[in-house]
Amino acid sequence: MQVTRSLFDDVMVPNYAPSAVIPVKGSGSRVWDQNGQEFIDFAGGIAVNCLGHCHPALVTALKEQSEKLWHLSNVMTNEPALRLAKKMTDATFADKVYFANSGAEANEAALKLARRYALDVYGADKTGIIAFNKGFHGRTFFTVTVGGQAAYSDGFGPKPADISHCDYNDLAAFEALINDKTCAVMMEPLQGEGGIISPTPEFVQAVRELCTKHNALLIFDEVQTGVGRTGDLYAYQGLATTPDILTTAKALGGGFPIGAMITTKDIAEHLKVGTHGSTYGGNPLACAVAEAAFDTVNTPEVLAGVKEREQMFRDGLANINAKYNVFSEVRGKGLLLGAVLNTDYAGRARDFLVASTEQGLMSLVAGMDVIRFTPSLVIPKEDIIEGLARFEKAVAHVVNG
Ligand SMILES: Cc1ncc(COP(=O)(O)O)c(C=O)c1O
Repeated sequence: MQVTRSLFDDVMVPNYAPSAVIPVKGSGSRVWDQNGQEFIDFAGGIAVNCLGHCHPALVTALKEQSEKLWHLSNVMTNEPALRLAKKMTDATFADKVYFANSGAEANEAALKLARRYALDVYGADKTGIIAFNKGFHGRTFFTVTVGGQAAYSDGFGPKPADISHCDYNDLAAFEALINDKTCAVMMEPLQGEGGIISPTPEFVQAVRELCTKHNALLIFDEVQTGVGRTGDLYAYQGLATTPDILTTAKALGGGFPIGAMITTKDIAEHLKVGTHGSTYGGNPLACAVAEAAFDTVNTPEVLAGVKEREQMFRDGLANINAKYNVFSEVRGKGLLLGAVLNTDYAGRARDFLVASTEQGLMSLVAGMDVIRFTPSLVIPKEDIIEGLARFEKAVAHVVNG
């Protein structure tokens, strides 16, 4: 059967609008399409492929596990899941892990746990959830409602209730919302989809203090920031602020679908037998690959390498900007970076993305004004140099029309 992009329009539900390119092979940070055209990958499957494509450690883990055991469901546990959970708890504030299959599912579990914890400990009135405008937490109905973009949650009937939003980094607005009926605050410790927006350290610390004061659980959604992306294993570790619940997905499996919610023993206790679950959560294949990814990323060399690569991106983008004057700033942390278009190019992020693809570079946008880069954490330095050279050509193409 010949597979073409037009087949997508024939057979797929039209909720996505994929590029005309159909990749068929990847190795490290290079990808090839059906016609053999090569791309440098600065997108990493939206911050997922933390070790690039087909990293040998992940391929070995997948192959070995695929010849042992694929699936059991949670009527039995399995060795890869328990090994991974032990490593995650050893490396973080958490004592307990719940495995899911995606970021949205991990967040769904976190929100349900927060509501149940508040019900058990403080009674039926404590149901308020506060989240932030421009936040993104997934596409289940609960998570999309908690996410701060009405465009994604409108039009599906009555929404889960008692959820309110304020602007990120607006402490006065947050203080006005939180009270003793708040059961949880969900935030990204660096907003990704919303435009690569870092919190101020004072804001994060004040949110933590106010959550503690009002007995509200602080949930950090680290689906995009987690597993080395910002140069720390988890972003909270670089913010000197510890959440009560943390969710992680994307890079956790390095490209194999897996998500997790992690928390302390006292909170975890409230998700009792039968309260929540998933057929695939903790699947041995997913956990074996994630264990290999976790082991590979959680080393001083890889984490320090993220910071070195961040500097290469910042220097390269500054050079491009000195020639073409298209960005007002480059923001973000580690390898979660956003080049913000200045007023002359406002709203045109997609034009830069399309021009980049034409030059053999895969990149992303975060809204209409930000070009987003989330490459492999171990992208070879020569691929950064070559990718930035291709990006410069794309910028020249947009600027010169
Ligand atoms: C911060 C954050 N949370 C949750 C999600 C949802 O993850 P998934 O698409 O795996 O459900 C995303 C995806 O972009 C994300 O960036």
